[in-house]
Amino acid sequence: MTITTRNRDFREARRAKKDEFYTSLSDIELELKHYTRHFTGKVVYCNCDDPRASNFFRYFSTNFEKLGLKKLITTCYRSQDASHFGRDDSDQAVYLEYTGERTGSSVPDVEEIGIKSLQGDGDFRSDESVELLTQADIVVTNPPFSLFREYVAQLVEHQKQFLIVGNMNALTYKEIFPLFQNDEMWYGPSIRSGDREFRVPDDYPLTAAGTRVDAHGNKYVRVKGVRWFTNLDYPGRHEELALHRTYSPREYPRYANYDAIDVSKTMHIPVDYEGPMGVPITFLDKYNPAQFDILGSSKTLGRPMSEVAKKGTYVQGGPRFYLPNGDGTYRRMYDRIVIKNKQLA
Ligand SMILES: C[S@@+](CC[C@H](N)C(=O)[O-])C[C@H]1O[C@@H](n2cnc3c(N)ncnc32)[C@H](O)[C@@H]1O
Repeated sequence: MTITTRNRDFREARRAKKDEFYTSLSDIELELKHYTRHFTGKVVYCNCDDPRASNFFRYFSTNFEKLGLKKLITTCYRSQDASHFGRDDSDQAVYLEYTGERTGSSVPDVEEIGIKSLQGDGDFRSDESVELLTQADIVVTNPPFSLFREYVAQLVEHQKQFLIVGNMNALTYKEIFPLFQNDEMWYGPSIRSGDREFRVPDDYPLTAAGTRVDAHGNKYVRVKGVRWFTNLDYPGRHEELALHRTYSPREYPRYANYDAIDVSKTMHIPVDYEGPMGVPITFLDKYNPAQFDILGSSKTLGRPMSEVAKKGTYVQGGPRFYLPNGDGTYRRMYDRIVIKNKQLA
């Protein structure tokens, strides 16, 4: 093996390890309860899920009749996790199709339903997986975060309905943000703040804060910024955000490199301001498309500060908005979303 191949293998392994976070059944239940009406007669595809380990498979097989599903398909990428969960067939990518057959009153287990081997590695982009994707109505999973852009692009290309787990920062990606802006993707309702716990492989190094090992030796990490991303509608997203403050130039300063006011907290959006407003990205937790328009983000709208101010008066970095400090220097803001109250237009 050459050094380059070894390095590549190592990088691949590190990437794969970073992607091995298993979603808890309680997080799945808390989110899925908002969408039951969407699933009647539908084919659900979980395409990053080892049926022997995935709580997505567990949730949909257990609730198959209650949801009125037509079919459940899961595919597993090289069974990465199988070895971590004490199995020895980690190199075989597998899939499973369940159409609701029962043995007695209980849902058959994975072995009874029958796991089938895939020819390839079960990559969601492989021909075999894409063929299964074309059968699906709704894709539901927690995909590898390192491939989030590509993963979403595939769902959009195939015009699928979806409900997937990701990190809220993904919304600032240039491929993802336009989907929010065009009302083709939004956050699900069950996670609004705090962190979420995921099970990780047994050999995962637990050095960081927010990790734990349970009584059976299973390892868990807590992850910040987790959100559900979806294009399935739910009633909560049409609720109006109550606004209590009124605009004053003193409380809402203007950016130096874009013509908008800064609103430092979503709850402080002034009820009477008609123009563009920069708000924190957590605004999207409250976004109602009938109430606000999304005009863009600081990443796409901020003018380069080199055109606005002298070098040395501001902290350099990628495109962001800046606020004047009042002494000739400027402070760099966190990412902002630019919105407009469409009810005042
Ligand atoms: C964040 S984990 C979530 C696992 C499972 N969906 C769950 O929520 O418990 C992402 C999974 O995607 C798998 N994966 C990584 N690369 C993949 C690829 N190219 N195609 C399909 N799955 C992949 C990983 O092995 C990992 O098990």
